Amino acid sequence: MSVVTIDGPSGSGKGTIAQLLADELGWHLLDSGALYRVLAYAALEKNISIDDESDALIDLAEHLPVSFSTIDGVTHAMLDGESVEQHIRTETAGNAASKVAAMAGVRQALLGRQHDFAEPPGLIADGRDMGTKVFPNAAAKIFLTASVEDRAQRRYNQLKQKGFDANFRALSQEIAERDARDANRAASPLRPADDAYLLDSSGLTIEQVLQLAKAYLAEKAVI
Ligand code: C5P
Repeated sequence: MSVVTIDGPSGSGKGTIAQLLADELGWHLLDSGALYRVLAYAALEKNISIDDESDALIDLAEHLPVSFSTIDGVTHAMLDGESVEQHIRTETAGNAASKVAAMAGVRQALLGRQHDFAEPPGLIADGRDMGTKVFPNAAAKIFLTASVEDRAQRRYNQLKQKGFDANFRALSQEIAERDARDANRAASPLRPADDAYLLDSSGLTIEQVLQLAKAYLAEKAVI
């Protein structure tokens, strides 16, 4: 049973590549960012502050009733059996997620749940610390990056496509701020694992990135 990790900053195309690889290989997919997004959303719904690490927040992380369900071919994050997909995909939710994700206790509380995704025939794990912390022994590790402009443009297109309002300048700024918070935090900062394959997707199409990722997996004898 192999685990392939795909880490990188927001908007690098990780989610898309992870989903395509999982579909193509028939493997499981862990969208770890969704766990932090759902946690932040659930906390705000329950009036639990996300500004400080508290027992209530850790307790919620430990017992979070989160699951994933495929509805009409689309994966939905579910909270208490209800889809929260529309609520958790906004930039505001992403920022709230990055706040709770900066807390060491929260990360620890969600660790076992992430390990549970590693089941045969294989797992594609998408996140920030999949290769460094959650699956350090993964068979292959990809660190996907892209320029801030490329990432803001992709996020903009994605949000528009989903029917959300989006402002390019505000998005670029939010992405840069979120990157800084993710890269500079003490608990599992965003950084490539020493043995990761660095893939810069700036200016490449999804298909080109997918081919490069597959060539790397073939070289590592994972596929
Ligand atoms: O990947 P996504 O944009 O959904 O992640 C939302 C936020 O969750 C990130 O900005 C990051 O702060 C946090 N995250 C994390 N570790 C992961 C996945 C996401 O800290 N493995």
